[in-house]
Amino acid sequence: MAILEICRLGAPVLREKAKPVRRLTKRHQKLLKDMTETLYEADGVGLAAPQIGISERIVVIDAGKGLLQLVNPVIVDSEGTQTDVEGCLSIPGVTGYVTRAENVVVEAVSGEGRPIRIEGHGLLARALQHEIDHLDGILFID
Ligand code: NI
Repeated sequence: MAILEICRLGAPVLREKAKPVRRLTKRHQKLLKDMTETLYEADGVGLAAPQIGISERIVVIDAGKGLLQLVNPVIVDSEGTQTDVEGCLSIPGVTGYVTRAENVVVEAVSGEGRPIRIEGHGLLARALQHEIDHLDGILFID
């Protein structure tokens, strides 16, 4: 495993629309492991592949309810609103209030290549929306 360098605001990759993963390979397995190690080392809630310079639709999240490794995640349902303080590992030292959905349902492929469906509420819903935004080049400061 390895700790990866996190791209900062201004890196063009953070503004790209990331490509879907067509087939999970050993390279992706290693990427997921390295992203997970990097997330925990940075004491973050979530990390998206573009943040480590890879424009593919992969995120890792741990909002205190266990690790999620998601490939090609898509929000299929959302409801309610919540407004809370948010930050981003790519924009250190900056926080701001962001209004997002309170509940989301996300479909994705797991790190093992299985289809999964996650219902997120509160902080987990916020993290899912924040990280999926990264895959479309959207940052919380937008
Ligand atoms: Ni972020």
